[in-house]
Amino acid sequence: MKKILVWDLPVRLAHWLLAALVFGAFALANLTSDESVAFAWHAIAGLLAVFVVVLRLVWGLLGTRYARFGDFSFRPAALARYLRGVFSHDAEGTGVGHNPATSWFAIALFAGIMGLGFTGFLTARGSKSAKEIHEVLAWSVIGLVAVHLAGVVLHMVRRRENVITSMITGLKTGPEVAGIPSSRIGSAGLLVAGVFAFGALLLSGFDAGTRSLTLPFVGSTLTIGDTDEKVRSERAVETGQRHADGRGDDSHEHKNEDNYKHRHKD
Ligand code: HEM
Ligand code: HEM
Repeated sequence: MKKILVWDLPVRLAHWLLAALVFGAFALANLTSDESVAFAWHAIAGLLAVFVVVLRLVWGLLGTRYARFGDFSFRPAALARYLRGVFSHDAEGTGVGHNPATSWFAIALFAGIMGLGFTGFLTARGSKSAKEIHEVLAWSVIGLVAVHLAGVVLHMVRRRENVITSMITGLKTGPEVAGIPSSRIGSAGLLVAGVFAFGALLLSGFDAGTRSLTLPFVGSTLTIGDTDEKVRSERAVETGQRHADGRGDDSHEHKNEDNYKHRHKD
């Protein structure tokens, strides 16, 4: 047994980029007010995370041995056996790549992040139900990450193997034949260049003043969070509906005005 290369550079870069972007988006969304420019940045971080997931999915087809989805272990029986092993003393070795738990976890996270991108898009287009789903999904993804971190710590304690360092250096202890031959530095360079290019495209369509974001390739323009304009237009729609219903009168009008002032005082 010796130190062998297991995780190529694109896998490691995608991992730490995703960790930073997901935590960053979550923190910005929760710690800033919906009316601030900082809140709009959470959507930019989120869209970048979606882009990294897309690149990771492509790498799952083209990458080195342990990066490929073909090497993941998805059989439910293997997952059950693995989880039983975690909670008993006869934990069996699962090789150096993804174990059944990390295989399922990775797919769930990739799906969760894509889902956040999609529901975030619909929320920004004004869908109230998408907003509910977006928030629940955001907390579910963070919950999954918490389970992930608990799993990492448990693994390190029980197996006495520092898997965090492995995700940085790419090295694990294992039989020499199991190692991958290269870190694929060229592909990692392409990944970084792609993320920078996509980031630059997003920024070129972002107007901090109005919090509007024109999406590259798609062309739709989104408004992220609450702006004076959005509140005013929501108010106009509400007022219009009341008039159409024939229920508009002065007392309602004043109540609405109060609501508007109230939102802006918060
Ligand atoms: C939002 C935060 C995070 C996300 C979205 C995330 C996501 C993932 C994903 C998708 C994988 C599978 C790797 C792949 O095939 O691409 C993975 C593996 C891994 N992650 Fe994370 N991760 C996060 C945070 C962290 C943190 C903070 C640590 C360390 C403290 C960590 C340590 C690891 C390790 C050690 C592995 C490899 C597990 C193994 O040996 O099978 N992760 N993570
Ligand atoms: C990793 C990705 C993301 C995470 C973790 C995340 C997280 C969140 C959270 C926690 C909230 C609720 C904030 C509150 O308490 O008001 C929220 C709201 C929202 N998010 Fe995201 N989000 C992500 C991606 C996106 C994307 C990609 C978009 C747009 C394309 C987006 C658009 C929005 C909008 C419009 C709201 C509602 C703002 C309002 O209250 O009117 N999010 N997000």
